[in-house]
Amino acid sequence: MNKKLCIGVLTSGGDAPGMNAAIRAVTRTAIYNGIEVKGIMRGYKGLVFNEIIPFKTENVSNIIQRGGTILKTARCDEFRTPEGRKTAYDNMVAAGINALVVIGGDGSMTGAYQFAREFDVPIAAMPGTIDNDLYGTDTTIGYDTALNTIMDAVDKIRDTATSHERLFFIEVMGRSAGFLALNGAIASGAEAAIIPEMYTEADQLDELISNGMRKSKNSSIVLVAESELTGGAMGLAKRVQEEYPQYDVRVSILGHLQRGGSPTASDRILASRMGEAAVNALLDGQRNVMIGIQNGNLVNVPFSKAIRDDKPIDRSLMNMVKILSI
Ligand code: F6P
Repeated sequence: MNKKLCIGVLTSGGDAPGMNAAIRAVTRTAIYNGIEVKGIMRGYKGLVFNEIIPFKTENVSNIIQRGGTILKTARCDEFRTPEGRKTAYDNMVAAGINALVVIGGDGSMTGAYQFAREFDVPIAAMPGTIDNDLYGTDTTIGYDTALNTIMDAVDKIRDTATSHERLFFIEVMGRSAGFLALNGAIASGAEAAIIPEMYTEADQLDELISNGMRKSKNSSIVLVAESELTGGAMGLAKRVQEEYPQYDVRVSILGHLQRGGSPTASDRILASRMGEAAVNALLDGQRNVMIGIQNGNLVNVPFSKAIRDDKPIDRSLMNMVKILSI
């Protein structure tokens, strides 16, 4: 039974530090169990355009410490069409692959869910995204590294913000989720976080401004999640500068540097554990599950749950940001 399994592994969507550690863990766990494994290049694109490479243990040597993904990644329009998925399935079968491990974010998970239902392909997925926006897992591969990158960047910006007595709006990634902004603010001691999940509630910004940026402080840092709901750092800065011309306002958009860099120990360990668990799930005959982590324990989350768009954020932490910045 084990001998018959042939796993194809791919990374899809935005890359995240730790994806290479995940590819390594999947490859080596498969080979250890006598299972064939093949690397699929450029996410679902590699299935549609038939870029599939047989993997040996050496293919994943010396990659655990590297950011990005050796398999490359893409967002694939062709895979969104029924014809594209049919071609992907035919190529997969022709390559002898009969199970998939998909490493990616919510878009990749949605694609996997659809593919699995249409073609009855067993798939184990791993949450790989810096955004941490997948339901059913406390954290995702790449999130910890991105948080640390944000913390380092904000530490540096604080030096100049303090010297010039400025109010800085720093925009971080997260598309429609505030995990990076909120926890980045806590880790860097920022004065406020503006996140899409709470954009209609108590306007921290107004509070911060009306307190005169606090009597004990002459500079402030506000972390803003990139999102239409928050208006982004540029929008907020413009508003504040117009309303409070006495403040010297600056904007810094951290952008894609948040996605790069060597993964932290925490992300490497998470990716290794999840990679092993993904292969074991397929070996156990499980299908269409995302490996998640809850309270330190690995769990199998059905795709239908993982792609829900309401992963809760701990709202009490917003209040804590405020308390700790007095
Ligand atoms: O989903 C990961 C992510 O980094 C988001 O936080 C961000 O909005 C998006 O990808 C950026 O995508 P791209 O690299 O295609 O510009």
